[in-house]
Amino acid sequence: MAKKTVLDFMEMKKKGDKITFLTAYDFPMASFCEKAGIDMVLVGDSAAMVVHGLPATLPMTMDQMIQHSQAVRRGTPDTFVIGDMPFLSYQVSRERAIENAGRFFKEAGVDAIKLEGGRRVVGQIEGIVEGGMSVMGHIGLTPQSSGQLGGFKAQGRTADAARELIEDALAIEKAGAFALLVEAVPPEVGKTITDTLGIPVLSIGAGMYTDGQLLIVGDMLGYFEAFTPKFVKKYANLAAVIDKAFREFAEDVRTGRFPEEKHCYRMLEGEHEKLQALLKKTPPRGGRHGLRGEYLGS
Ligand code: KIV
Repeated sequence: MAKKTVLDFMEMKKKGDKITFLTAYDFPMASFCEKAGIDMVLVGDSAAMVVHGLPATLPMTMDQMIQHSQAVRRGTPDTFVIGDMPFLSYQVSRERAIENAGRFFKEAGVDAIKLEGGRRVVGQIEGIVEGGMSVMGHIGLTPQSSGQLGGFKAQGRTADAARELIEDALAIEKAGAFALLVEAVPPEVGKTITDTLGIPVLSIGAGMYTDGQLLIVGDMLGYFEAFTPKFVKKYANLAAVIDKAFREFAEDVRTGRFPEEKHCYRMLEGEHEKLQALLKKTPPRGGRHGLRGEYLGS
């Protein structure tokens, strides 16, 4: 299937065709996304928690995000890939934002970048868009500023808070973003934003009325075990599958059930006998055989 573009996503919104969106951080998961025909892949800074075992996304660096994005790009040559700008790669200034966004495109070949925040990042979005790069906005629960939000909490649950989010959404669209991701807000708020904006609105925990849905692979496949947000639907329990496989392997090794004959490379015909004779004639020195080179048997 041909890679979708920002125009295809606009068309999908117009037609009411839902956009499918997953995170990936490495080549194998990215390849599975592409094989399954997922429309967009986010190389999220959630890699901090899902892949690196960190308690928050803040420590992720540009270099780490570029490496993850390169691996994902290799696995998804025909899927729209979005690089997630890590903490402090865009907040400091418009110039820094443009330069760091540019690195995702130049070094990892992404199709777009995503950054968190509402009206306060409008200057950065405008700059990156002026630089010819596609930007996805991200409002609601924004993990990089979860400290200010009082933790990983749903947002926009009062009329006033929802109104602020709608203003943020409008400002992001006006700044030139091609799409907006809305995280952890009530479905009514997700719907109002979706109905208000002309650009596609994607949800992660923003209900069923948006133009598409994003889930984090570690959550939906059931292998990220630290916590599971309310908005996650688990489509698999890979933690149980992996745990069973690892335990079976350990048991097989300890009891000698693995490896079996079929897992071994045998020597070529007659070569083992030749080796035995060789070792007898010129015993190897050192190791188990002793410094004197006594060969201790076949
Ligand atoms: O990093 C990420 O995966 C994200 C999601 C939480 C939306 O930004």
